[in-house]
Amino acid sequence: MPAKPSTTSVPSISCPPDKSITHRVLFLAAMARGRSRVVRPLLSGDTRATMDCLAGLGVRFHESGDVVEVDSPGIAGWHRRPSAPLYAGNSGTTARFLAGVLSACPGMEAVITGDASLSRRPMRRVLDLLEQAGATSAASDTLPVTVHGRRLKAFDVRSPHGSAQVKTAMVLAALTCDGVSRVTLPDGSRNHTEILCANLGLPVTASREGGVETITVHGPAEINPFEVTVPGDPSSAAFIVAAALLSGTGVIIRGVCGNPLRSAFLDVLDQAGVVIQRAPVASHEFTEPAEDWVVEAAATRGVMRPAGEIPAAWVPAIIDEIPVLATILAFAPGRSLFRGVGELRVKESDRLAGTIRLLEAAGCAARAIGDDLEIAGGLTPAALKSFEFDPAGDHRLAMAAMVLEMVSEFVAQKTCTISDRSCVEVSFPDFPAVLTSLRNSAQTSSPSRKRGILS
Ligand code: S3P
Repeated sequence: MPAKPSTTSVPSISCPPDKSITHRVLFLAAMARGRSRVVRPLLSGDTRATMDCLAGLGVRFHESGDVVEVDSPGIAGWHRRPSAPLYAGNSGTTARFLAGVLSACPGMEAVITGDASLSRRPMRRVLDLLEQAGATSAASDTLPVTVHGRRLKAFDVRSPHGSAQVKTAMVLAALTCDGVSRVTLPDGSRNHTEILCANLGLPVTASREGGVETITVHGPAEINPFEVTVPGDPSSAAFIVAAALLSGTGVIIRGVCGNPLRSAFLDVLDQAGVVIQRAPVASHEFTEPAEDWVVEAAATRGVMRPAGEIPAAWVPAIIDEIPVLATILAFAPGRSLFRGVGELRVKESDRLAGTIRLLEAAGCAARAIGDDLEIAGGLTPAALKSFEFDPAGDHRLAMAAMVLEMVSEFVAQKTCTISDRSCVEVSFPDFPAVLTSLRNSAQTSSPSRKRGILS
């Protein structure tokens, strides 16, 4: 979805579909018996990993244009002994959702594996809860995990992690259980599963009190085939916003999911004095409300200030945007501090260390203080170094580096080296094309490069 010039000459980009919602839709469609239709799902490394694993269980997918049809025998008809390990690739969401739902499939004997990065990431946060619910699996804390599925009794478990992946793994399992199950966890993680289940008429409800949320599932639920349209991914949109802000070009990003638990990125920018306009999309075709994000040309110029302190309570809602926020805030005239971001250490790479590495390489001091991330700010295009950076296979670090590279090349005519860009495939395969078109647009609107960022 490269940028298309709009009638007003501001590039207009259709937001790539949401990764989290696509995973959830695929899992629920695979649990239903019959044919479901998913309109505009994200087709990327991570979501294809989900499709491949579900295919290993006997689910079939037909792609045609921007529609994927899911043909499933229903969860009761899934292969109980898949002929090969279910390979989740780089996708933590796939591995954790699988662990949840397969644990509750009687007779299931399946092995979940992943790439080198995923094989280092914690699975205990899901497996511990599943074991409390009576499930059995063989694993230390990491993949491979061998699942021995069985009929689970309704459960009531509490997670210390405010994680949507953990929550969803348990909800998927609970949908198969006989009785009322509950999962309680720290509040603030994305709630797409709950919304989707409500849209599909499934008996899943959420309540919140005192910083804690409880999801209640009245199982067993019959999931019927359905059709949904996936809205755009705010986490991918964040990289487009960053590229536009830092190159001083305007952009309209169309059809971004407007879920408040995904748009706190904009609240952090707001705290830094940078306002992105949001226009609701009238259409009801999406699973969740959608909106267009409008970035004014040179929206950062002269207005950006340090974001100050970003509280730990915001972290679940900005967890995927912290590297790109850090990249923007490097150009603020002073210090910003993200509180309580230790969870970044167990993402696709150690993203806390990776973000610091990137900012340091580009010329902005940054450091971890315990679980906090401090960004000194004060970077200017002129001071931006021509950096070399290894994103360690992490798509969000690679995209943050590519944004900085664009600024460095466009504004300061310096060349950077990023050792691996192919990992953007995981969530945003079109990102290089989108960046190129934004860069072209910045060049057209600001040929002298003097109107670039932040001046
Ligand atoms: C996701 C939840 C978040 C997020 C990840 C996708 C999801 O992870 O970082 O990229 O789709 O549920 P946690 O649940 O581990 O916080």
